[in-house]
Amino acid sequence: MTKATARAGSNIAFIKYWGTRRDRPELALPLNPSISMTLREARTTTTVAFDPDAAEDYCTLNGSAATTEELKRIQRVLGAVRRMAGIRASARVVSSNNFPTSAGIASSASGFAALALAAARAASLPCEPQDLAGLAILGSGSACRSLYGGYVLWEPPLPSREDPSVRQLASESDWPLVDLVAIVSREEKPVKSSLGHILAWTSPFLEARLASLRTAVPKVEKAVLERDFEALGEAMEADALSMHAVMMTSRPALLYWEPATVGVMKRVRVLREAGGLACYFTIDAGPNVHVITLPGLAPVVAQEIQNLEGVQEVLVCTTGEGAGLTEDHLF
Ligand code: DP6
Repeated sequence: MTKATARAGSNIAFIKYWGTRRDRPELALPLNPSISMTLREARTTTTVAFDPDAAEDYCTLNGSAATTEELKRIQRVLGAVRRMAGIRASARVVSSNNFPTSAGIASSASGFAALALAAARAASLPCEPQDLAGLAILGSGSACRSLYGGYVLWEPPLPSREDPSVRQLASESDWPLVDLVAIVSREEKPVKSSLGHILAWTSPFLEARLASLRTAVPKVEKAVLERDFEALGEAMEADALSMHAVMMTSRPALLYWEPATVGVMKRVRVLREAGGLACYFTIDAGPNVHVITLPGLAPVVAQEIQNLEGVQEVLVCTTGEGAGLTEDHLF
């Protein structure tokens, strides 16, 4: 039996991945480039062992057996690893997050980055991030960005290609930022991102968003390279609103926000414009708000956000490293 354990942090996108190519809906082939920051405090640890004596794949997530749907997603990665390595053994997978799964931080990004690395290592496959990106996206598109630390750019492949193109723009030590996650709801999202990526095509605004990204993506890339927080923040906030405009104008319409979501967004703008505090918001496919700020301002911004009506908790995440192996096995 060969066993390996990997750790990976989740990530928050400054330029969002929303919409997949229609010709291969089962693959995460994004319509647009996305740029994210890897998160240190929101981490998944996963141990994988291929065991020729095991009758079938068995997977435990945060102490409970994976559901049929979860197992199917995990088996897409395990199946690809087995094909690449030429092995047939079933796998035992044990995975655990150091953050609540329902906290509005993408556990699938950290989870599938850790799974791709642990499974590849257990099967003695190459384990550089560029070797793993194609495996990670079989579970979750955004997971390929969590293979790298710091700031990461994921670009759509050329029309004739399927292999993801992911690279680090700057490392975690180049520019430490803070993501204050304002939790306004812990309920599971009504429509999963995988379906949302397909529904994006039904929005009349999709084309406009893709066109606007032709200038927004280089702007964010430059802001990261030059550590220009204001330029980053303005482009980031605009892109979150642009993605949610596509969501809200899809058929059926996806409205992820709660009243407290809007409360946090407005407060962030007041803190910035009247209070002179550099902070900007972004929101994924859910109601929780990620407030991005500078390390020195994080305590005061967190306090302001925590005091708002409807905010249950504020999680503090900093810029983190990429996926890595560890000897601390979970079994
Ligand atoms: C809104 O297909 O990666 O977070 O696997 O369900 O986490 P899950 O989603 P995925 O889509 C992510 C969509 C997003 C934006 C982003 O992270 O780029």
